[in-house]
Amino acid sequence: MADETEKEKPEGGEEALDRRQFFVRVGVGSLAVAGLGTAVFAYQFLSPNVLYEPSPIVNVGSPESYPPNSVTLDPQAAIYIVREAPGFYALTAICTHLGCLTAWKPELGIIACPCHGSKFNRDGAVIAGPAPRPLPWFRMWLSDDGDLMVDRSSPIAARQFVRI
Ligand code: FES
Repeated sequence: MADETEKEKPEGGEEALDRRQFFVRVGVGSLAVAGLGTAVFAYQFLSPNVLYEPSPIVNVGSPESYPPNSVTLDPQAAIYIVREAPGFYALTAICTHLGCLTAWKPELGIIACPCHGSKFNRDGAVIAGPAPRPLPWFRMWLSDDGDLMVDRSSPIAARQFVRI
């Protein structure tokens, strides 16, 4: 009986079975990796290629938070909120030359660009430098809550004040 059992097993049977299982597992693993890679690329290909940007409309707070005759830079929104006697207005803080963030210089009463030296009046008009255009004004209004709102996607003609 013992001889028959040994004869039924092929020579090196367990070893051959282990080798077969090894190659089956390698094959299944390779297919799984290839399938996963295909799924990832298919998902990326089919997903909309959308760049999510923050809203162009920003709430810049209550009018009382701005002192009379002041220029306030909001660096997050890259805009200036200006309060003058006739009212409020907002203009971009992005230089019209090559897009640097400008800075308000209260001692000089001007807006200056640190990159190439453009200078602007507080109403955005170009005084000096390579900037080709004035800083555009943006649409501004009072919300129902009494806060000042600015739409950075809506340039308007200069000298349109929000009167409080
Ligand atoms: S980017 Fe402002 S002067 Fe060049």
